[in-house]
Amino acid sequence: MKIDFSESRSSKAGAIVIGVPEGNRLGPAAASLDKEGGGLIRRAIKSGHFEGKRKQALKIVAPQNVPANQIVLIGLGDAKGLSETECQNLGGEIAGQVNAAKERHGVVLVDRPTGCRLRAPEIAASIAYGAYLSSYRFDKYRKKKNTNGKPSLEQLSLQVKGAAQARRRYEPLAEIAEGVFFTRDLVSEPANVIYPETLAREALKLRRLGVRVEVLDEADMRKLGMGALLGVAQGSVRKPRLVVLRWQGATKRAKDKAPVAFVGKGVTFDSGGISIKPSAHMEDMKWDMGGSAVVLGVLRALAARKARVNAVGVIGLVENMPSGTAQRPGDVVTSMSGQTVEVINTDAEGRLVLADALWYCQNRFKPKVIVDLATLTGAIIVALGAEFAGLFSTDDKLAAKLAKAGEQEGERLWRMPLDDAYDKDIDSDIADMKNVGSGRGAGSSTAAQFVKRYIQDIPWAHIDIAGVTWSNRKKPTVPKGGTGFGVRLLNRFVADNYEGR
Ligand code: BES
Ligand code: MN
Ligand code: ZN
Repeated sequence: MKIDFSESRSSKAGAIVIGVPEGNRLGPAAASLDKEGGGLIRRAIKSGHFEGKRKQALKIVAPQNVPANQIVLIGLGDAKGLSETECQNLGGEIAGQVNAAKERHGVVLVDRPTGCRLRAPEIAASIAYGAYLSSYRFDKYRKKKNTNGKPSLEQLSLQVKGAAQARRRYEPLAEIAEGVFFTRDLVSEPANVIYPETLAREALKLRRLGVRVEVLDEADMRKLGMGALLGVAQGSVRKPRLVVLRWQGATKRAKDKAPVAFVGKGVTFDSGGISIKPSAHMEDMKWDMGGSAVVLGVLRALAARKARVNAVGVIGLVENMPSGTAQRPGDVVTSMSGQTVEVINTDAEGRLVLADALWYCQNRFKPKVIVDLATLTGAIIVALGAEFAGLFSTDDKLAAKLAKAGEQEGERLWRMPLDDAYDKDIDSDIADMKNVGSGRGAGSSTAAQFVKRYIQDIPWAHIDIAGVTWSNRKKPTVPKGGTGFGVRLLNRFVADNYEGR
């Protein structure tokens, strides 16, 4: 979908969209359109019992002298409290309405509602951002031309006072959206297309944007002693990879050059291994590399908008399969940290991958903060569903920063407990630890506690995104399927806390 901003209306449009606040007071642009159309809009508002409430919409046929097919009225509700997030949602709803009208070109007349704290260019940029995020589709494998449900909207024009300013505000947002789309694409790809080698190849594409990318293969990891990650990988014919990404955007003068680090679980398919999963919904496990895809999306966003920060990403890529070479329940592996693990359940593989990826990242880069993302436990879905991702942290300040960024981006986090009692639960009789707890409860916390054993003295947070990586219900700016949850959150986390210092 193409987006443009202009001061005055383009000559022709499929649908003209106007926002109407509760109480139906039309802004200047909407009022002049109404005048052009001989008062039809106001008449339609009356006869259609339109009240300008949020989520209300009314479509009318455009009058003779208005150069469009249809006019779409969108309710703004109480416009005083309109926030950027709400404008993004509006943008998604506007795109939805124009699609429902089967029009290819939409023109949004942006009036700043009276009392609204946002300026018109901000409103326009946010609407555009939301509309763009909502336009994402993963339809490359629908070969038969099935137009059913395919969005018609090709171009969205925003007419706004201060178009140049709006465009300037939108540009970095568009880059962040490309990061989100990159993540959604990777998560949506099936596991016969995206496996460690090909996912590493996708990561290499970020070189174009100035990201340094290194790919470690099995032999490299063997030398480093990554027995935990390699144990997971050994059942699959797809060979593992570890990808290291670096964005060096901090200014030369920056006092603190230590990077912010992101580490991602990249299990390109999680069958469970010998502790094999039941067949129902096993196809979901193609997106068990969601954490690594978020790391890639964030680095893409940071590089594309030339963020003034040093950031590193480390992603551990494996396929977890049962076979004659697969790891067995009861096997003991030695991680890069030297700590040994008794693998009780081969389906608790994500933590084994994180253990080595995190250790490597800390030793090599000495980051000032480290955040890992993983579709780690089904238990977090039970606890939080699709509304929140689980946040585990040893550092209250870091947790607060992440929670705030998530709140602002509509990617919300809920803090979950770490505790010595959960830690005891993973002590093993034969090795330093086992990979699952003895009790039945608190599966997300024992998993986080396991990961914590691989964290040195550094602010660390773990985000369990198992419940939010894939969605079966669309939201205004998030279509069904891969959500890209985490990219916007971490981009803002960096922008608000680590840039330009
Ligand atoms: N990848 C799964 C977690 C998961 C489940 C993600 C459903 C998304 C949707 C993870 O590797 C796993 O299998 N976890 C087990 C851990 C258990 C064996 C201790 C789980 O949650 O059941
Ligand atoms: Mn598993
Ligand atoms: Zn998994």
